[in-house]
Amino acid sequence: MRTPLMAGNWKMFKSVRESVAMVTALRPKIDGVTGVDVLVAPTFLAVPAVAAALEGSGIHVAAQNCHWEREGAFTGEVSAAMIRDAGAGWVIVGHSERRTLFGETDLSVNRKLRAAITATLTPIVCIGETLDEREGGQTHDVLDRQIQRGLDGVTGAELAALVIAYEPVWAIGTGRTATPEQAQDAHAHIRGRLTQWFGSDAAARCRVLYGGSVKPDNVATLMAQPDVDGALIGGASLDVDSFTRIVKFRVA
Ligand code: 13P
Repeated sequence: MRTPLMAGNWKMFKSVRESVAMVTALRPKIDGVTGVDVLVAPTFLAVPAVAAALEGSGIHVAAQNCHWEREGAFTGEVSAAMIRDAGAGWVIVGHSERRTLFGETDLSVNRKLRAAITATLTPIVCIGETLDEREGGQTHDVLDRQIQRGLDGVTGAELAALVIAYEPVWAIGTGRTATPEQAQDAHAHIRGRLTQWFGSDAAARCRVLYGGSVKPDNVATLMAQPDVDGALIGGASLDVDSFTRIVKFRVA
């Protein structure tokens, strides 16, 4: 029922030229791969060129953030409608780097997510606990709060179409991946809450990605977990060969 999604979050890496070169090389390598959705999230500046380079490929393009207003006096911000107009169909909201480095809260995540839906962008909503929170036994409580507040006002139909990315903060960029058991535990908890709050049909359709040091050699064991529906990949998505191997996780 849930097609796996492999999403590359390029963060603040790659110029426009480098972004286009990457997708131009990636496209033929994964042409013909079936049963998996693929997405790349370049910087805002590279969205139009990457979207043009990927036209007709079936590879999706996301922005990494958006503002919640359609337009206005918000220096340095980009609206969801502008992202849609630039050629992306998706947007990442609430990444932990935005929460910890740029002051995002569950409330701003909720506003952005609603703006994305209004602009017909598919949101990828990031949640996840810090190391302190995990060691304090608060993982499930943190996830509950982030889901409850972040997804406030979202309908079951909207939930079914969006994507949640579980990214334990302690696993991001650290080389320290959650074990498949830790990932499955968190994903099953998330699915349970979604079932409780949005209904079993919506919860069964909503894809929950794992993120945090996903690499070609650990993706298959993570994907073998029943509630892991794909991955949000940082570092390993920046290289054509490693991202290709992740997309082809069934073959590897
Ligand atoms: P890494 O894969 O580099 O750990 O990054 C994960 C991430 O933050 C994806 O959004």
